[in-house]
Amino acid sequence: MTLAIDGPAGSGKSTVARRLAEKLNCLYLDSGAMYRTVTLHSIRTGVDWANVPELIRLVKSCKINFAENGKIALLDGEDVSDAIRTPEINSVVSDVSKIPELRQEIVKQQRRIGADISIVAEGRDVTTVVFPNADYKFFLTASVEARARRRFAELQAKGIDATLNGIQEEICDRDTKDCSREHSPLRTAEDAIVVNTTDMTIDQVVDFVLGRIRGL
Ligand code: DC
Repeated sequence: MTLAIDGPAGSGKSTVARRLAEKLNCLYLDSGAMYRTVTLHSIRTGVDWANVPELIRLVKSCKINFAENGKIALLDGEDVSDAIRTPEINSVVSDVSKIPELRQEIVKQQRRIGADISIVAEGRDVTTVVFPNADYKFFLTASVEARARRRFAELQAKGIDATLNGIQEEICDRDTKDCSREHSPLRTAEDAIVVNTTDMTIDQVVDFVLGRIRGL
């Protein structure tokens, strides 16, 4: 079974997808974490992502995978789960992830991961490009204010310094870039069920998705 969930930053898709994967006993595939890890790796190694051949060489020469059913992102065996979620990575990941050659490579890896097993995948193009034949498709959305508040709370809990206004600006900037890029922009698949999570708790969203899957 393939369950695919797309949506903008802060729509709740990561938490919801993780919980669904646990409940359905599937692999959780965090596609955004892969773009984030490439971004981190290019910053650390000083590879200019405008130099596409160099970037692709870098991606092919490293191993990006997951542990603990997708909760931990590994870069050549190192746990980078926190390092890929800093404001610095947030501010440039959309610029890196819009590169078509990079997307091609990452999509190939994502399809390989989902080839023979049941998965819950989430991202910006998993319902439209990566798994267009997914058994179930959902598009999660929420007001920009609600999404910023969620991200702010997440960062505060981790002790990362940020302001609500700054986060809202960064989310708007990322929305614009993710939706307007030429290749695989964020869009709602025609056959996706749209869920506005602005006034919903995570549990309510999870129950709603499970209900739709079970035909309730
Ligand atoms: O879901 P996220 O916030 O961790 O994603 C980080 C960035 O990665 C997002 O701003 C755009 C990019 N991304 C993408 O282009 N395609 C995906 N399937 C997932 C994420």
